[in-house]
Amino acid sequence: MNAVDIINKTKRKLQLTEDEMKYLVNGYTSGEIPDYQMSAWLMAVCLNGLTEEETVALTLAMRDSGDILDLSCIEKITVDKHSTGGVGDKTSMIIGPAAAAVCGVAVPKMSGRGLGHTGGTIDKLESISGYRVDVEFDEFADIVNKTGFSIISQSGQLCPADKKIYALRNSTGTVDSIPLICASIMSKKLALNADCLLLDVKWGSGAFMKTPEDAERLGALMEKVGNAAGKKCRAIITDMNTPLGCCIGNSLEIKEAVELLQGKVKGRLYDICIELTANMLELAGKGTISECTAMAKEAIASGKALEILKETIEMQGGDSRVCDDTSLLPQAKYSHVIYAPFDVEIVSVNAEELGMASLLLGAGRISKDEEIDYAAGIVLEFELGDKISMDAPLMTLYSDTVSDFSEAALRAYHAVGFRTLTEGALT
Ligand code: URA
Repeated sequence: MNAVDIINKTKRKLQLTEDEMKYLVNGYTSGEIPDYQMSAWLMAVCLNGLTEEETVALTLAMRDSGDILDLSCIEKITVDKHSTGGVGDKTSMIIGPAAAAVCGVAVPKMSGRGLGHTGGTIDKLESISGYRVDVEFDEFADIVNKTGFSIISQSGQLCPADKKIYALRNSTGTVDSIPLICASIMSKKLALNADCLLLDVKWGSGAFMKTPEDAERLGALMEKVGNAAGKKCRAIITDMNTPLGCCIGNSLEIKEAVELLQGKVKGRLYDICIELTANMLELAGKGTISECTAMAKEAIASGKALEILKETIEMQGGDSRVCDDTSLLPQAKYSHVIYAPFDVEIVSVNAEELGMASLLLGAGRISKDEEIDYAAGIVLEFELGDKISMDAPLMTLYSDTVSDFSEAALRAYHAVGFRTLTEGALT
């Protein structure tokens, strides 16, 4: 077996065997296969795709490149959720505690830091003073057994193959391939090894998948790979053309998650969180989808989910008082309000552009080691379809590090599509 033959097979759309896939993944992870050969193979995959069998083989070879967690020490049924990412997505901090509020369900999660517009879940959690994300496995399991929920950062021992391949994909224009995205996400999720897995596959301007059809394709493939690996796995497709909720940015998103768990936030974010939690509960065998929907709503309305978040933050060393008083989260030194130029109706919102504006304010990072500004971000004062009168605030931009808002404000302003209303339409 050699790498050139494998590249040629994929180039000619011939199916690789399981052994060839293992040879490629193990050879690249150990350094025997160089970047230039792996890059050529990845490009062949981008152009020609992989079969379902090949995608399963690639995913399992990547999963097996490192540790596979043994969650048998967790007494309850374990449910993990993965979102393919989007602007303003703070659902993990909401649905993890909400699902764990139901008897017999635990949500052990590992997440990553963000690269690009906004921070990842780990960056968001790190905006809570003292919150430890680098927790050893035994302590992680202990927290999950006590509170039902924990999120920590992904250990370097999980899926080293994905770490190396993803970095190469980022620098060779080979990220946007459905089988490669599937293998990358699913190898990490299968290495975490929860009993059930819910996949929130997003499509739209702020997501990897730009069309609902591509999101459906990715979701169906991930379900097949999950089921082939013996997991109860379901993908649901959600729209990410507009940001999720009104806050974008790390501490601002924690604030919104806490406020939702306090019962103060309704609308699209609440509805999506209920849908995701209900699906997690149904996968865990807790009832029909309508029974699970009622349990998800009750978990939030009763305050139990907020209590779980608070206990988890406390056990991970964080300042859990933020669950009662969100003003204890990092606050930005500088702010800038953008006002409606006329009486307008909001007809479109470009989530990706708002994400980019937020990056300019310091809420995200372009390279791996860049510092993040936890207080930076944007708070929107509208939802799609709202009518706003002239000179009323449209959004507020925040930053602790950038005092000149001109570039970010321009970008954020242009992310919103208006229809100008005729005089008197708002009176
Ligand atoms: N997220 C991942 O972890 N991998 C991908 O390939 C794309 C998104």
